[in-house]
Amino acid sequence: MKILVVGSGGREHALTWKLAQSDLVSEIVCAPGNPGMAKHAELAAVAAEDVESLVPLANDMNADLVVVGPEAPLVLGLADQLRARDIPVFGPSSDAARIEGSKSWANDIMNRYGIPCPESRTFNDAATAIEYIESCPPGGIVVKADGLAAGKGVTVPETATEAIEAVTDALERRAFGEAGETIVIEERLSGPELSVFAFVDGETVSTPVAARDYKRAYDGDIGANTGGMGAYTSPKLCSPLDLDNIRSTILEPVASALIAEGCPYQGVLYAGLMVTDKGPQVIEFNCRFGDPECEPLMLRLDSDLAEICLAVAEGRLFETPVAWNDTCAVGVVIVSSAYPAAYETGFPIRSDLPDEDDAIVFHAGTSNDDEGQLATAGGRVLVATASSPKSVKEARTKAFEIAEGIEFEGARYRSDIAVGAN
Ligand code: AMP
Ligand code: GLY
Repeated sequence: MKILVVGSGGREHALTWKLAQSDLVSEIVCAPGNPGMAKHAELAAVAAEDVESLVPLANDMNADLVVVGPEAPLVLGLADQLRARDIPVFGPSSDAARIEGSKSWANDIMNRYGIPCPESRTFNDAATAIEYIESCPPGGIVVKADGLAAGKGVTVPETATEAIEAVTDALERRAFGEAGETIVIEERLSGPELSVFAFVDGETVSTPVAARDYKRAYDGDIGANTGGMGAYTSPKLCSPLDLDNIRSTILEPVASALIAEGCPYQGVLYAGLMVTDKGPQVIEFNCRFGDPECEPLMLRLDSDLAEICLAVAEGRLFETPVAWNDTCAVGVVIVSSAYPAAYETGFPIRSDLPDEDDAIVFHAGTSNDDEGQLATAGGRVLVATASSPKSVKEARTKAFEIAEGIEFEGARYRSDIAVGAN
């Protein structure tokens, strides 16, 4: 089978690494890919958002399957265009990707189909939103840009003044462009957060798996929100009973709702949950794997990823095994100096990067310089990932040992990823 993988980050490297282990796979092309992915695939210089060029690329290489990593091309309709040409694709249509692309649409679906989520209201006009904020208890709400805002669209304000600032930023100063023309004001929930992932082929929802990510830039969960500084997954993070419950009260109802709405969901569904004293509630859906959650998760997937992705694309998930093993896995992201604030790139990476089944460094933001030397090319640069059959602690120790050995100017990582986790 010939596969085109779309994307260039740590998530796509992890997916490519796993796909390359399949006996079904004869060739992988990555667009645009990265030097880590080049070990398993040919790279094509086409950007992940360049839908108009990705479709002919898939066609010309006679792709048997296209696996889409990031959300942007899905929201732009890449999967629709591929399906229209009978090219099997792992990733939802643009209509189904609204589950991530429009928070107001996702909330409306959840409310109409009885899926547990915080109360919410949608606004297009600042004056009405501010009037509403003034009627809410301080610290009781969350303000969200409706559309894709590169992980920056959510404010959790402590005071009405901060909430009004967030509303004015989005609706009047257009801080998020079109993505913030509509905002959602949500009831603020409290409790531990959990990311839950399941493959969905329209109707069938696979056995889910849980992970936890670390969004803030610095130890102790302080500093700005980032794309993710690390993640871990373990069988104890969420019991099989709780995962079953999440499947039957959240994931299956969403899959059925999207069929009823005329936009069946095909891909991996990512539910961002808050486990409240009333049970798990959905604070966001994403239409793709989380990054960096995907990196440790791929070390726990015992089944054949290529077989799963093709079964999702062809609606045959009911007959396809999806097994997550009982190991624990941790991913530590090594970032460029002040990331997510301004940083420089182009620094040589002087390290041997391990590449084993239970200890591997995935590339997130790297490139080869003119002399062919590996260099930094982004904020999130590498993801030191390790697993252990024994404990999170052992997996974490291994991941940090790898992280310590990685050298480039300004290299930095959080030292508390998965600390205290089981
Ligand atoms: P997101 O960008 O959607 O991942 O949201 C960023 C963070 O905002 C989440 O990880 C939560 O910590 C927080 N958040 C989002 N929605 C809520 C909510 N309804 N109540 C409390 N915290 C929330
Ligand atoms: N790790 C969070 C995300 O991928 O959205």
